[in-house]
Amino acid sequence: MQSIRKAVIPAAGRGTRFLPATKTIPKEMLTVVDKPIIQYVVEETVDSGFTDVIFVTRERENIIENHFNHNEKLAKLLAKQPGKDLLKDVTHLSQMISMSSVVQSKPLGLGHAIQLTEPFLEGEPFGVLLGDEIIISDVPCMRQLIKVYETYGTSVVAVQKVDEHLVSNYGVILAEPVGKKEDRVLRVTDMVEKPSREAAPSNLAIVGRYILTPTVFHALKDLSPGMGGEI
Ligand code: UTP
Repeated sequence: MQSIRKAVIPAAGRGTRFLPATKTIPKEMLTVVDKPIIQYVVEETVDSGFTDVIFVTRERENIIENHFNHNEKLAKLLAKQPGKDLLKDVTHLSQMISMSSVVQSKPLGLGHAIQLTEPFLEGEPFGVLLGDEIIISDVPCMRQLIKVYETYGTSVVAVQKVDEHLVSNYGVILAEPVGKKEDRVLRVTDMVEKPSREAAPSNLAIVGRYILTPTVFHALKDLSPGMGGEI
């Protein structure tokens, strides 16, 4: 079984639901407490043992890449000011994981964003972490998914129990237990995108963490755009 080394972080959506905050700033760069959302996500990749991260970004302005890059001018300025190293938290990340990016010039959907990363993945299974979703967990969510992949050798999605009146915001799975109960692993037998409350097969909603095998690229090639013209 091939090990999981590479993580894709799609961050090229238009973020229309967060306008006007996202008019020029990617949603993933909005701040939660003292750092942008995407920094939490990259920290999760490092804590989960990934060696490479590939961002999908919406512009060539490198806003996301520059956030993680070493900035010599700023480093020099801070060196003159005694006290806390305010850049340490972010620059150490770029030393711990190799970063690259690909531009999605039109927002053709999450599936399309993932398609663009195929040349970077060299036929390996890979992780996907949505760049606008923070998941806090003692054992990082992605590390948990990798463990499941290593046991079952198949694609894995993270799910979360949600209130029944919220199912229509999510992809919802139908599933049956597999393995030991305490492992909390289910075999997915069906999934429905944004079902009505009545049509939902469960209250287990897909959240933004996935392990995908390269077979996903065959599936994506055969897909035509769905709602909103998105793949
Ligand atoms: P969302 O559907 O939540 O993001 O995509 P969005 O399209 O930016 O949101 P709205 O509907 O306009 O408010 C989930 C993730 O997939 C990425 C987004 O950046 C987000 O991290 N995404 C989505 C892409 O990278 N490309 C796309 O074409 C669409």
